[in-house]
Amino acid sequence: DGLSDTGDATPPAAQRPLVLGFSQLGTESDWRNANTRSIKEAATEAGIDLLFDNADQSQQKQIEAVRSFIQRKVDVIAIAPVIETGWEPVLKEAKDAGIPVIISDRSANVSDPSLYVSFIGSDFYEEGQKAGKYLVDKIRGMSGPVGLVELRGTEGSSPSIERGKGFRDQLEKKKANVVLLRSEAADFTFEKGKETMRRFLEEEGANIKVLYAHNDDMALGAVEAIEEYGLRPGKDIIIISVDGTKAGFEMMAAGKINCIVECNPLLGPILMQAVKELAEGRQLPKRISTPESVYTETMAKDEVGKRQY
Ligand code: AHR
Repeated sequence: DGLSDTGDATPPAAQRPLVLGFSQLGTESDWRNANTRSIKEAATEAGIDLLFDNADQSQQKQIEAVRSFIQRKVDVIAIAPVIETGWEPVLKEAKDAGIPVIISDRSANVSDPSLYVSFIGSDFYEEGQKAGKYLVDKIRGMSGPVGLVELRGTEGSSPSIERGKGFRDQLEKKKANVVLLRSEAADFTFEKGKETMRRFLEEEGANIKVLYAHNDDMALGAVEAIEEYGLRPGKDIIIISVDGTKAGFEMMAAGKINCIVECNPLLGPILMQAVKELAEGRQLPKRISTPESVYTETMAKDEVGKRQY
């Protein structure tokens, strides 16, 4: 697209489209693919030139992508960080080059907050708390301790860390009568979710009464594993998940998932708005979060047709 060799001929910012370099972390889930679509569509809509890089779950590839954006002198860089730590050096390089960075979706843990201008994304801790609250209500009256298993997301990623913490804090606060039988990282993917749930069932069998999955893809994989094992997902095993994808809602409408805590991937329009405001010299709020709901089986049939991702 010629961006790399415009050299001194680069027209002043006001006369050319803004250029945004976006480092996406991968394609692990329906949520992620919806997020990518939203960003691409919103960029087109806003007339922003998007340099999009997909890092296949590799932080190293993300860092390389950011370096290439710096070299190409983009106007703004946005990053969806695969894990929380390890971002300081490359963020410093962007800052030294005078390019503002927006952190999108997952957070980056940095000691110097001036290394990025804004973080746009969900409150994952609150999502975990919502999942915990649902569980406490759902098991009221059940004789305990109720056997629980957890499918965590990518190790070291902020959604996995925060969804785990929020959930545990809520169970502790409400003194839930549960016992955590197994908890493992299954990378937010369908396949890993299925494979890990299969193992949980081999090891713990019918002691498992509840599954908390950090996203819908892993929950959907687990549903298959539970059925293959001969138990009824949503009935013999209560399933709580996060995201609210169309496929997740369909499963909930079929009674095989009991509760989904919504996490909104449609961040494209907010991100493009932020890019434009930065170009106009405006200061962004340090934290922009998205409003989200909780859905249960009773609402699933009415909602499923309305899902946009
Ligand atoms: O960072 C958001 C999480 O990443 C979503 O919940 C999950 O599905 C995705 O892969």
